[in-house]
Amino acid sequence: MLYDSVMNKTSAKKRIIKLREEIEYHRHLYHVLDKQEISDSALDSLKHELFQLEQQFPDLITKDSPTQRVGGEPLKEFEEIKHQQPMLSLEDVFSLEELADWEERNRKIFPEGSFKYYCELKIDGLAIELRYCDGVLIEASTRGDGKTGENVTENIKTIESIPLSINGKAPKELTVRGEIYMNQDQFDALNKEQEKLGKPLYANPRNVAAGSIRQLDSKITASRKLHCVTYDIVDDGEFNKHNDEHLALQKYGFRTSAQTEECIDLDAVAKYHARWQRKRDSLPHWIDGVVVFIDDNKTFRRLGVVGKTPRGAVAFKFPAEEATTVVEDILVQVGRTGALTPVAVLRPVSVAGTTVSRATLHNEDEIRRKDVRVGDTVVIHKAGDIIPEVVRVLPKLRPSGAKEFKMPSRCPICGASVTKEKDGAISRCVNKQCLAQQLEGLIHFVSRTASDMEGVGPKLIEKLVEIGLVRDSADLYGLKKADIVSLERFAEKSADNIIESIQGRKKLSLGRFIYALGIQHVGSVTATALAEKFLTLANIQKTSEEELSVVGGVGGIVGKSIFEYFQSKHAEELMKKFERNGLLVEDAVVVKRAGIFSGKTVVVTGSLGGLTRDEVWEEIRKRGGKITETVSRKTGLLVVGEEPGSKVAKAQKLGVEIMDAKEFLKIIKEK
Ligand code: IVH
Repeated sequence: MLYDSVMNKTSAKKRIIKLREEIEYHRHLYHVLDKQEISDSALDSLKHELFQLEQQFPDLITKDSPTQRVGGEPLKEFEEIKHQQPMLSLEDVFSLEELADWEERNRKIFPEGSFKYYCELKIDGLAIELRYCDGVLIEASTRGDGKTGENVTENIKTIESIPLSINGKAPKELTVRGEIYMNQDQFDALNKEQEKLGKPLYANPRNVAAGSIRQLDSKITASRKLHCVTYDIVDDGEFNKHNDEHLALQKYGFRTSAQTEECIDLDAVAKYHARWQRKRDSLPHWIDGVVVFIDDNKTFRRLGVVGKTPRGAVAFKFPAEEATTVVEDILVQVGRTGALTPVAVLRPVSVAGTTVSRATLHNEDEIRRKDVRVGDTVVIHKAGDIIPEVVRVLPKLRPSGAKEFKMPSRCPICGASVTKEKDGAISRCVNKQCLAQQLEGLIHFVSRTASDMEGVGPKLIEKLVEIGLVRDSADLYGLKKADIVSLERFAEKSADNIIESIQGRKKLSLGRFIYALGIQHVGSVTATALAEKFLTLANIQKTSEEELSVVGGVGGIVGKSIFEYFQSKHAEELMKKFERNGLLVEDAVVVKRAGIFSGKTVVVTGSLGGLTRDEVWEEIRKRGGKITETVSRKTGLLVVGEEPGSKVAKAQKLGVEIMDAKEFLKIIKEK
């Protein structure tokens, strides 16, 4: 059943009302109670949907719609302070195109302007205004709704990086703006403490920073060890460039960002943005993008303000890793081991820079736990290259009649019966000859990390299976040029290439071969461990389940799976056919355990000189290292390539030795 996503006015009205209630609930939670249930980007996504529906049906816009307001309300407990000049916010841009459009618009308004830029990091904290009179801090206020904020002077005075009186000769009146934030390590320590006390955990450092400033006991603020970076002098008439303002702030004794950069054009801005998107995990605090200012203050002022944002600056945000969308259907996919995986078909939505239209729901238990139904609005998470996931359902947005998912009792591909494993939540098609399993198994066999048959892709495999030329991986080695030429869209030359590619992989190392077989639970790390321990295929075939289970990192379930695989009639026949068709499985050689990584447990993150992850692992193993995939106290070394993930921060925290890409590549070049 497909969820109806086409909106007429009646259904739009219903959806608008529900969206407003949901947004209002999260707004109150966040801005008034300093609590958070869903991420900012998920909430933005809901607002975006509401905005679009209201654009489609403008007569449904009401004065109290969340789209008609900006900013938070001042807390009643605090005295109100009217800002002498409104605290503006920045327009967000998410792509290079949007950034270029911004410059284009400004050039049209002021063609004679100077379009060089000044970039700084956009710290994920809360904005603060600090007023000094005769060099002494007299008032500190939050942004509030932009016009009126809360008087939080006493709390602010506990922050050590904010000077209570300014250095040197001070102007009579000085108003400075900046960002208050909490470092990640302080946040982690605080949450550890909460956990010990059995109290709820804080959602993120920004929330805690905001909560610490907007509460009535300044002793609590003092205990939270907050920081402040300043970025703006409100009366900036005397400065020519944005950087001059930073220099003046430093002279007065304020902290400013250490990672600023003057950028000659938007290409330089793009590089700065890309660099910090990559390196954001190396900072002690969260950032959610970079702020791009027109560096020349004259141009900046001349461009003026539109609504609540200055035209001369934008926030160039990092792609949001969460968004909301609607589940239009739930399909079931059959994998190479026969596992049935429910997949959510989503109304396409942009997350982390790509359009997402499918998300795995893992298994039936996971669907029950999250209670995902067709028609539900869900929060989707996607970070980097990670497969998109459904984080949670927003039940208040559920339409009536939203259907619960039920795992089919028959395989959707071959119709064979489906069993649910005793020890897991996984449902499996029992038919080893199931077309879906055959196809997925073959696609795995030819993939780069398995037998690496270049040019033999999923489309060709599908065709070969469809016309009955190939039923299993051993059949690939029996293919002739004539078989390929007879296929649509293949000429002599391309057929030659395919056959060459297959024949070129007629010798496979034992580790690769075991991995390529696609045995359930056997990844490349396990396959290599098996090869290193048993050295020949014949040895593995005759090893008992118990012996297989004690190989490094294998364990009982995996040992059983390998044992049962090689005992099966299917495997016996397949091995014979491999031999008949000329495949040679090379015995493993005993690896001399001496080498630079000898005895070390090594983890790898990021890309290294264009090598695949398996190639990197092989280089490390050759030199005596043992590979694992997660950083723990037992890790001996973390090799860090380009665009590393969160493993770096974890390794730093645990004091694990780190090796950079340059050093690693130098080592593997040495004999
Ligand atoms: S400049 C017109 N620089 O981002 C506001 N803002 O809407 C000019 N922020 O509310 C702000 N880091 O709280 C600027 N380096 C930075 C910043 C920064 C964080 C916050 C600020 C503002 C929001 C943008």
